[in-house]
Amino acid sequence: MGVDRITGETQKITAKISAHYVDNARNLPWRIPLALSAAGSLPDPYHIWLSEVMLQQTTVAAVIAYFIKFTQRWPTVGDLAAADEADVLAAWAGLGYYARARNLHKCARYVTENLNGIFPEEEAELLKLPGIGGYTAAAIAAIAFGRRAVVVDANIERLAARLFAIDTPLPKGKADIRIAMDVLTPETGAGDFAQACMDIGASICTAKSPKCEICPVQVHCLAFAAGDQERYPVKPPKKAKPTRKGRFFWVEQDNKLLLVTRPSKGMLGSMRALPDDNWAAGIDGHGEPPFAGKWRLHENVIQHSFTHFSLEVDLAVYQSDKISINNDDNKKTDIETAIWWPMHGIEDAGLPTLFAKAVRWNMKQKSKGSE
Ligand code: ADE
Repeated sequence: MGVDRITGETQKITAKISAHYVDNARNLPWRIPLALSAAGSLPDPYHIWLSEVMLQQTTVAAVIAYFIKFTQRWPTVGDLAAADEADVLAAWAGLGYYARARNLHKCARYVTENLNGIFPEEEAELLKLPGIGGYTAAAIAAIAFGRRAVVVDANIERLAARLFAIDTPLPKGKADIRIAMDVLTPETGAGDFAQACMDIGASICTAKSPKCEICPVQVHCLAFAAGDQERYPVKPPKKAKPTRKGRFFWVEQDNKLLLVTRPSKGMLGSMRALPDDNWAAGIDGHGEPPFAGKWRLHENVIQHSFTHFSLEVDLAVYQSDKISINNDDNKKTDIETAIWWPMHGIEDAGLPTLFAKAVRWNMKQKSKGSE
């Protein structure tokens, strides 16, 4: 069944979703009160852009604290543009998908230097900015500028697929879902309508056990009528994720831990990290330590799941004499970028989650050892 089933009912669906939002909108720090938006006010485009970039591939619950931290530290796009990239990446640590943070900073610089600090209002212009794809351009145009734009994220995809029983498997089914959302999207208030759909997708039309009994559009929902809501959206068969092996190296002396800055290209680019053995999505790490000495190996101490592969990490802890990291003989170290980071401030190093997990694991081992 497809979008050919869309009928005159769509106007009712739109009206009911919009009316539901009036009493049920989530109170999120980048939103403005509904009364203001009903009176024609729009939120700060900087806030909407920042939140939408953070919300790509990340849940609202995880984003809220980061959004507050970023806007306190960098209240305007110009402030963010003036920040060091390293500080932005460190503040992003834990949110994942770090290319987003690099693009965020690039985009802030572009908007500040070339557009006088003013975000463009048109979807087509927004699309030209670093880190802004189709979804984000539509969301910013609709929410921050009141433009009519068709916004489709994963929550909206699920809601539309169920309402119209769109059973073409994703990603092909996205075309029909988009047509459905285009039909539903109102001429005015497209931003609040999109956020209303997101909220219903997140809190009512959930992937598992949807709460259809409180859904404002239950009577229009073809999936509900057939009793097979959880079938939608139909996903393509899951590809098996390969598992890669990697090794991190722990070198500690004088209460300081050896950290490196990863190369700017590649996974977790430009992030601070423990030295490792060059594991990558397509290949296991070589296992070789960065310099000779006595190392104590702890196998398989953490597991981390990336989008396309899982990583099993060993941790090798350096047990030998003091080293000098500026020693030119240590060619194999590949640690020209190395710095000694005080252990007591390790939380502030901005380590991506998988390295932070390894650090936590070894701190726990050490505290067990000293008990
Ligand atoms: N997910 C992405 N954008 C969102 C928004 N503006 N509100 C709630 N959830 C979202």
